[in-house]
Amino acid sequence: MTQDEMKKAAGWAALEYVTKGSIVGVGTGSTVNHFIDALETRKEEIKGAVSSSVASTERLEKLGITVFDANEVAGLDIYVDGADEINAEYDMIKGGGAALTREKIVAAISDKFICIVDDTKQVDVLGQFPLPVEVIPMARSFIGRELVKLGGDPEYREGVVTDNGNIIIDVHNMAITDAKDMEKKINALPGVVTVGLFAARGADVLLVGAPEGVRKFEK
Ligand code: A5P
Repeated sequence: MTQDEMKKAAGWAALEYVTKGSIVGVGTGSTVNHFIDALETRKEEIKGAVSSSVASTERLEKLGITVFDANEVAGLDIYVDGADEINAEYDMIKGGGAALTREKIVAAISDKFICIVDDTKQVDVLGQFPLPVEVIPMARSFIGRELVKLGGDPEYREGVVTDNGNIIIDVHNMAITDAKDMEKKINALPGVVTVGLFAARGADVLLVGAPEGVRKFEK
């Protein structure tokens, strides 16, 4: 089974959490793209979606799924999104696709975070995947220096502007043993919009596409 086939299996498995008449929180990335394809098969039953990126919005609308602004909804039952890494506590690194801030907002307004991944994303310690941080452009050098103090090796992601008009710094070589603490510390730096650590609000359900099928875990 290829990695993409495992992503597809996880994406389609999330469909069982979609309820009639609901507005579904939709993340970003290649795994979520499979979920969006699956969601199309239920589009007559749902009201629509709240999306975490311009890319997902375009894909949803192209398939005829109504996209609502996050300000139009009081809350969402579920948020379905991928991750770059997830540990045993369901803390995640996200933002490989630079959509981390909107992802965190949609996750925050949702009751249940359903994380869909292939089995290469499960790790013991977060940090092998470079940790993305969305930063206001004028704070770039300052944040870089602060991230070094926190033990990381920051690298400016060249040529990338987020949907919010900011830049991304990827932090290499940081073994993150206390994800909640590191999330707080990085988020507290002036100029950081958000860090791609999802620990204060981690996942609730984990669907892992694996060669033998989809493994389901619930908190
Ligand atoms: C987007 O910014 C990310 O948080 C994605 O959720 C993450 O990168 C997973 O992407 P794939 O599903 O493409 O692996």
